[in-house]
Order: sequence, then structure tokens, then C-alpha cells
Amino acid sequence: MLTSVATAMGPKLEYRMSDWDLLLTDARIATMRGETPDYGVVGERAAIAVSNGRIAWIGEASELPAHRAREERAMGGRWLTPALIDCHTHLVFGGDRAAEFEQRLRGSSYEDIALSGDGIMSTVRATRDASADELFDAALPRINALANEGVATVEIKSGYGLDIDTEIRMLEVARRLGDESCVDVRTALLAAHTVPPEFEGDANGYIDFICDQILPLVVERKLADTVDAYCESIAFSSAQIEQLFDKATQMGLPVRLHADQLSDGGGAELAARFGALSADHLEYTSPKGVRALSEAGCVAVLLPGAFLTLAETQLPPIASLRTSGVPIAVATDCNPGTSPICSLRTAMMLASRLFRLTPEECLAGATREAARALGLLDDRGTLEVGKRADIAVWDISHPRELAYWTGTPQLAETIASGQTSGPTS
Ligand code: NIG
Ligand code: FE
Repeated sequence: MLTSVATAMGPKLEYRMSDWDLLLTDARIATMRGETPDYGVVGERAAIAVSNGRIAWIGEASELPAHRAREERAMGGRWLTPALIDCHTHLVFGGDRAAEFEQRLRGSSYEDIALSGDGIMSTVRATRDASADELFDAALPRINALANEGVATVEIKSGYGLDIDTEIRMLEVARRLGDESCVDVRTALLAAHTVPPEFEGDANGYIDFICDQILPLVVERKLADTVDAYCESIAFSSAQIEQLFDKATQMGLPVRLHADQLSDGGGAELAARFGALSADHLEYTSPKGVRALSEAGCVAVLLPGAFLTLAETQLPPIASLRTSGVPIAVATDCNPGTSPICSLRTAMMLASRLFRLTPEECLAGATREAARALGLLDDRGTLEVGKRADIAVWDISHPRELAYWTGTPQLAETIASGQTSGPTS
């Protein structure tokens, strides 16, 4: 807005007055900008302004330009960070796997259960049997649980349908969760999760079916933002996934990969060859795989909930990911089999305890690097002018507490795209 004022010098001067929807003052702000060390903190008394759902100004309150704000709130010294992003979940599914959890505690391995026709397939059966409303009603409390901890963006994968109708139904439910909750949802087609009974002994035939039937329909209906696959001896080989990734790339969808979770299947190298947004899990990734991720600029998404639940002992190659400059994200992997965890704060806490990520790496992993893994870093993930005003407001004395406490009600409110929502009890 241009405003005219008379000056002592006589002629009128015109200057630009900022016109904002919302101005938050008396805040402490961790921008999580990668270029700024130490959480990207902006001074002691900071302010942030929002216009049209985007960040319009951020800095020391003492440097605020002339402005008008429709709403102005003093934050009482609270900490503001980018709202959290859970970049890897399977939170739409039917049934649960508590019985399998007991079976594993009695000594069966995840692979043995999968090879006996249970594991992922038991969730496939329950998901195929569930209506869209049943899947939605079961998933809504899960996404709300994430939102109540400051999450404003969640990625949800299909992969428990493995037939056209159910894969489509899962993705439609995921889109509906985005429309009807306060969380922005991104979706991934994970039809290549395991070989369904209809294609028993014919994984190649199932990959053809995904490429020729499922993927074109999903693209036509704009139901998936990315294509994911499970590269593992109990799932699909590199060669099979290459065929799928070729097709996805031709159809304009970015790819991601469940890579090297239970064994080194060259998953990291495969993800890197296709310029995947991310390679996820990575417990068994080799030094060659880490080099490939680094050269490709591929994000390593670490999933400590699955590591914990499977009682894995092989750690992802954290030190070499760090020294090679591979961006590291942290996510819940919320799913009924390997990570029954609906709390990104818990995943951050586990990443620090199990993988020894620093609290700053954990928070970056659940904000900036998670946005990068979704291909959304230009839009969100840090607090910077022009990005979506997705802001979490915390009752904490330092952001290092976010990977330290878990289960503690420290979220004061979340501002998503400039709109406030409080935690629900
Ligand atoms: O990310 N690794 C494969 N997919 C899931 C687990 C799926 C399941 O067991 O239901 C994961 O851990
Ligand atoms: Fe997963």
C-alpha cells in the first residue's frame, strides 16, 4: 500500500506501508534455514508477519517496517518453528497387526511372517475388506494425533490394496483426509509394496500390471504426488523397480524408494540413478550407496520407529551420510506392521536416542529435510519470506527440547497457511 505523508521539508513523500493479515510479535523464532547455524534463530525478540497464507516479513521486532496488520498478537516469548512435516507414513489401512507383534516377540522374524503369507498381506486383506468411510474413520484420529503435535504436512502412501480398486480407494481416502483435516496431505502410490496373491510367483507380471493399469489411472485422476516402491528380497528386485520408475518418470511423477531396510539390495544406488527425492530406511546401505545418494542430492529418510519395532541392530550409516553431506530427514513410518507410531515427536526422540542425531538434526529432519524429501522445500519447511506460513508455536525454553521430551503437551498452537488451530484434547 502506498501512503503519502507531509514532511517538514514541504513536499509530500510517498512510501510503502506493509499491509499484513497477521503479525506475531514478542516471539523467539527458529527459522531452521540451513544456511544459518544454531537452528537459524532470529534474535531475542522477533516478529513474523503473514499475508495471504505466506510469510511476508520475519526479523528482529526492532526492525519492523511501517505496517498495518489486521490481527496482531504478542506471543509472550514463546518459540516458533516451522510446523512439522511427517514425510513417510502408511496411515491409511484396515485392521491392525497386534497379533503379529506378539508372534514376533515370541521369536518369529518379520521376513518369516511375510513369507508365510501374513505381514503386509494380512493388512492387504483387511484393507481390501474396508469401505472408504471405514478407512477414513480409522485414519482420521491418526492424522489428528500428528496434528496435535504440530504437524501441518503429512505424506500418506497406498500399498495395502495391490489391486486397482483398493489402491485407488486408499489414495482417495488420503486426499479426503487432506480436505477434511487441518493437515496438508501429499500422496505416494506404493502399489509395488509386495506381490499380491493374484500374481503369486509372477512379480514381473504384477509390475507390468502396475505400469499398464494402476499407474495410468492414478495419474489420470491426479491421485498420487510420487511413486514409491519396496526394494527388498521379500518384495521387488532392482530390475523390477527400474521398470516401474522408468514408467513413473515418463509420466512425470517423481520417485522415492524403501531401500536397504533388511538387506543391502543396492536400493540407495537405484534411488540415486533415478534422481529419487528420497531413499528411506537405509540400515544396510553400503559406502557406495551413500556416495550415490550424495552425488544425486537424494534425501536419506530415517525411520527409527521401524528400527525399534523390528529390534534391528544394524544402524543406518549415519556418520558417512553426515560427512557426505546427504540431507537427513526423520519420519514416523506410521504403519501397523513395523512402526505403530503416530507421533513425529516420538520419532524425533528415537532418532536422537537410537541413531544419535543431534536435537537440531532431528528438528531439521522433521521440517526442512522432510520438505526436501517431498520436493516441497521451495514452499515450506523453513520460516522464510515467501514460504507458506506453516508455523508451530511451542511452550518450551529451547528448540532442543523437541527431541528431548515426548508425550509432553508443549504445543501451544499450529498456524497452517496462516490459519490458527489449537491442539485438541
Ligand atoms: O516402511 N518396509 C516396508 N513397508 C513398511 C512396512 C509395511 C508393513 O509391514 O505393513 C515400512 O516399514
Ligand atoms: Fe514405509
